[in-house]
Amino acid sequence: MAKDFFAALTRNTISLVGTAMVVASATLIITLFVIQQIGFEGGAYLGLITFVALPMVLMAGLVLIPLGISRERKRIAAAAAEGEEAIARFPVLDLNTESTRKNVILFLVFTTISIVILGSATYKGVHIMDSVEFCGTVCHTVMQPEYVAHQRSPHARVPCADCHIGPGADWFVKSKISGSWQLIAVSLDIYPKPIPTPIHNLRPARETCEQCHWPTNHVGDLLKVKTVYAEDEVNTEAKTAVLLRVGGLAGRENSGIHWHVNPDVQVRYRSDESRENIYDIELTAVDGTVKIYKAGDTPEDATEWRIMDCVDCHNRPSHQYRMPDDEVDLAMASGGIAKDLPFIKRESMRLLQAGYESHEQASEQIPVGLKAFYSAEYPEIASGKAEVLGRAGDELVEIYTSNVFPAMKVDWGTYPNHIGHQESPGCFRCHDRKHKTEEGDRISRKCDTCHTLLADAEEDSEVLKMLNP
Ligand code: HEC
Ligand code: HEC
Ligand code: HEC
Ligand code: HEC
Ligand code: HEC
Repeated sequence: MAKDFFAALTRNTISLVGTAMVVASATLIITLFVIQQIGFEGGAYLGLITFVALPMVLMAGLVLIPLGISRERKRIAAAAAEGEEAIARFPVLDLNTESTRKNVILFLVFTTISIVILGSATYKGVHIMDSVEFCGTVCHTVMQPEYVAHQRSPHARVPCADCHIGPGADWFVKSKISGSWQLIAVSLDIYPKPIPTPIHNLRPARETCEQCHWPTNHVGDLLKVKTVYAEDEVNTEAKTAVLLRVGGLAGRENSGIHWHVNPDVQVRYRSDESRENIYDIELTAVDGTVKIYKAGDTPEDATEWRIMDCVDCHNRPSHQYRMPDDEVDLAMASGGIAKDLPFIKRESMRLLQAGYESHEQASEQIPVGLKAFYSAEYPEIASGKAEVLGRAGDELVEIYTSNVFPAMKVDWGTYPNHIGHQESPGCFRCHDRKHKTEEGDRISRKCDTCHTLLADAEEDSEVLKMLNP
């Protein structure tokens, strides 16, 4: 019986090839799997080979075996019908002959080398497909906003795949499937512009961000100081400073903002698709008590419960599009735009928001507009400080082309940041005193819950003089 089985598997070329594929891929899968179990971190790529590529070879082999057997049967039957005896099709391998031995050994060596080469090539190819350059630049126009914003963010050195795919084979396969659809959508030009957010099937932050950051790691306070300029002739300079309570140790006296994502508490909510309007909020505290806060009746369009994670506040950790105000302030504080140019803040804001059809048009018109203003109002500056004006113009073009992408319909504020409460309601989506429990408990909106406001656009702040004598 076993002998028959073996004969059926190997009697014809097709089945023999199939059997070889099955045996080889199965051996490789098992070996790779064992290696990974022993603790060798192969990452998603090894996962792809072990769990996607090799199984495909195995499958193909499994298909070939019965195909070969049935063709062989037909051949024998056809031969029998003509009354002939089926002639053996295989060359007779006589290993006693030296040349045959050589050939067989050569064949085996060649095959092994091919497999190694093929394997490395697949590995390399997959690696390239997940590189920042590939993700960010292959579909140039489509990913340009995200790529440019990523390159200017604190995560510029974190590959796209670390947040969008993360470790493990399952999300890798999921991403490749949705990636294939995206390729089709891009080639047919049927993708939405701008790309809609939030991304509803983004991998939970627990599994991505927490590879590098974790909530209980946050303790103490974080001081944030901003320099702001007014739109008057002298661009009056002022400072804003907040001391943020970023701690995350739940159940302690002095917890703070990262308390929401502490593993000992859970905050869940239901909202509309955009997550801008939050309806019901459920809090499970350290001691297990559950509270539900509601702001009136839950509307029909409410989503399923979502467990709050990092991206509910840090929705722009990597793709940070800033508002023109913040950009100009930053450029002026760092000297990119000279702050002694009269009305430069006001004029910068005007030029940045004038509306352009493309990056090329903005690059042309912004510097021209800036020169035109100074030529008309301050001719001595236009002639005497041409170089300073030129640099300010370049800086404004850089700001525009890093935040606004007409080709993808990304304008100022298209992707608002949920950190704080300036660009969008952000924290105030829940901390609005409108959501309450049946007992009438509300979520705090007191300024001191989240931060101490040390200076709010103050020109001569005592605190700042202490910090920066
Ligand atoms: C630090 C983590 C991180 C990295 C690195 C990262 N992203 Fe994202 N990305 C996010 C998060 C979080 C969102 C979801 C924003 C939301 O849902 O509101 C997002 C959203 C997007 C979107 C949807 C549109 C948008 O602007 O929100 C695209 C497209 C995108 N990322 C592409 C990329 C590409 C391409 C790269 C690499 C050049 C990359 N991402 C790198 C975290 C990251
Ligand atoms: C591969 C590691 C890695 C991953 C994954 C990662 N980060 Fe980071 N993140 C970093 C590093 C490194 C820095 C520090 C950059 C610096 O100091 O310039 C950082 C900085 C930050 C900061 C501080 C930014 C600032 O303005 O100083 C925030 C907030 C942050 N990450 C949030 C996230 C979130 C949210 C995610 C998941 C969507 C995430 N990170 C995923 C490595 C990572
Ligand atoms: C309730 C909102 C909220 C949630 C949820 C949240 N953060 Fe933050 N996080 C903040 C705020 C606010 C700051 C400080 C302000 C800022 O960075 O602009 C901050 C700061 C940070 C920083 C910089 C801290 C420093 O000391 O420099 C990192 C890193 C960070 N968060 C990572 C994370 C990660 C990872 C998660 C998910 C496990 C997370 N955060 C969840 C609101 C949140
Ligand atoms: C999805 C709803 C939701 C969002 C969004 C949200 N919070 Fe909260 N937050 C809560 C709930 C619920 C509590 C617990 C009720 C309370 O303490 O008033 C809470 C409590 C807090 C606390 C007190 C934690 C402690 O020590 O007990 C701080 C600080 C805080 N939030 C800061 C923020 C900041 C900063 C943001 C925005 C970056 C933010 N929250 C966004 C729901 C939210
Ligand atoms: C639920 C938490 C929370 C509450 C309540 C809150 N804030 Fe804030 N606020 C933040 C966070 C987070 C930031 C920092 C945003 C950032 O990092 O850019 C911030 C930043 C600010 C800033 C600096 C703005 C800037 O230009 O960067 C001011 C001013 C401010 N808050 C005023 C207030 C006042 C006044 C109140 C009381 C009515 C208040 N906030 C209540 C979370 C809160």
